[in-house]
Amino acid sequence: MCGIVGYKGKRQASSVIIDSLKTLEYRGYDSWGVAVVGNPSISVVKEVGMICDADTINNLGSGTVGIGHTRWATHGKVTEENSHPHMSSDGCISVVHNGIIDNYQALKEQLKKKGYVFRSETDTEVIPLLIEDFIKNGCSFEDAFRKTLSFLEGTYAIVSIHKDSETMICARKDSPIVVGVGDGEHFVASDSPAFINHTNKVIYLENYEMAVFNGSFEVRCSITGDIIDKKVQVLDWDVEQAKKGDFKHYMLKEISEQKETITKAIHQDDKVLQGIADAINESYGTFFIASGSSYNAALSASYTFSKIARKHINIVDSSEFPNYEHFLTPQTLMITVSQSGETADVLDAVKVAKKKGVKILSIVNVMGSSLMRNSDHTLLMNAGPEICVLSTKSYTSQLAILTLLAYACVGKLSEGKDLLKSVADHVGDLTDPKTLLGTVELASCLKDKEHLYVIGRGQSYSTALEAALKIKEVSYIHAEGFAGGTLKHGPIALIEEGTPCIVFVPNDETRKEILSNAMEVKSRGGYIIGVSDEENDIFDFFVKVPDVGHASPITDIIPIQVLSYYLAILRGCNPDRPRNLAKSVTVK
Ligand code: G6P
Repeated sequence: MCGIVGYKGKRQASSVIIDSLKTLEYRGYDSWGVAVVGNPSISVVKEVGMICDADTINNLGSGTVGIGHTRWATHGKVTEENSHPHMSSDGCISVVHNGIIDNYQALKEQLKKKGYVFRSETDTEVIPLLIEDFIKNGCSFEDAFRKTLSFLEGTYAIVSIHKDSETMICARKDSPIVVGVGDGEHFVASDSPAFINHTNKVIYLENYEMAVFNGSFEVRCSITGDIIDKKVQVLDWDVEQAKKGDFKHYMLKEISEQKETITKAIHQDDKVLQGIADAINESYGTFFIASGSSYNAALSASYTFSKIARKHINIVDSSEFPNYEHFLTPQTLMITVSQSGETADVLDAVKVAKKKGVKILSIVNVMGSSLMRNSDHTLLMNAGPEICVLSTKSYTSQLAILTLLAYACVGKLSEGKDLLKSVADHVGDLTDPKTLLGTVELASCLKDKEHLYVIGRGQSYSTALEAALKIKEVSYIHAEGFAGGTLKHGPIALIEEGTPCIVFVPNDETRKEILSNAMEVKSRGGYIIGVSDEENDIFDFFVKVPDVGHASPITDIIPIQVLSYYLAILRGCNPDRPRNLAKSVTVK
């Protein structure tokens, strides 16, 4: 979590950095800060809350080298002192950091013994003080930075500047850094949308690589100092995709893009897709590994694989995966599903699997992400940047690709493509502005509720989990998803007069039983919101969705994404930045 940026070029660094930080706020937004090399000292602004501009830019001066940070607190409360950048005690060095320094307490003790005084509760502050200490002992800024890295245990993406040296340095281990290469200027960021309006030429740093920006630009091994030859890649994401356009929030924009993103998701190289399907068929044990909404997509797909491909898939939340290592052999196949490709638990699961010789395939949205670089094969989701913290378009793109893979496993790739093309059209209808507004009525009737339940069976069980996740994370209404059959084993005790319960009733083998579950809830006073292709007397409120067979999880979730959005709006919550959450969970 946390977003970091750095800039060295010819423009006013503060304004470039503040713009970049705004695009990275999805990585954390409890506090922020910027430091710019000035004359005679580094100017720093740190604040809790929203990133503000005009005055801040002026206060930071006209320097052309600087760094910035948007924070999701891990070590230390949300205060100005704990926000980054952190400074050395002599004020010469400034550092921003994403990750966790595991051995910071031991390092802090050593530095305290040398007389250094700490101003924050963070793990990060040891970094500028260590650099300072090495410089005091005769090292150059670059050597002091490299030596400091050798003392750090844990994860880091770091950018640092020095007041006297016009040099900016960055390095990474297990937290992402991408360098943007412009015309006479360089950008450093946790993620490329931070600078995509300046350049689409990028260099991805690997673990233990360190980039030094002085007059020129070099990437060096952070252990040996040897120069590493890096390839510049060109991104096909464009500026417009990362902007809100006429939409008030990214969430609504991204919900509305789904006809297009599903179409792009299924536009894969057939040979590669078929090759992956063959690998699934040949494997002895296939695991789907993911977190959050990506986990819900993978869970949904495990039902699709069972129904279409008659293939058993083990589905494990990535944070729990290390407990399954005893079942891994070189015949095992791991398919990881992740929008960002940076989720720490997913990357850790990959590490565990690789040690056992497991082949890694991934379904990822962000090109060049750590997951992509650690996988044997990748299918890109092609959804464009997803800025809202909540996953919407990436969730349906994941479902579309996984559904296609299930069809490919039984040699029916073109049948799968035809189905998904028609699904994309239906999604276009569901996200039509007129249909979206229809959901406001339902949101108004639910906005003051404290609790809400969602039920489904079979594939719709995972849709129920995803629906409840969407509602709770953005509106803070307590929402829980259950399998219809679980209801009588406890959750039904929670139903009172007027308790809302969303029920997914697709046209499949679950219809009869889920309707009786809905009736059980209704008999106890529950208010039934039926999401179905067909009206039913049991429903107090009917949300019509099309009947798209095996692909119903894609269309069924859309009205609930929209409902979640309007619930957030009516309850005064910011849908793009729900409290306490971050889009990329890069710490375990
Ligand atoms: C966070 C985000 C979710 C996302 C999950 C997994 O919790 O808020 O929207 O689904 O991480 O992220 P990934 O990038 O691995 O799909």
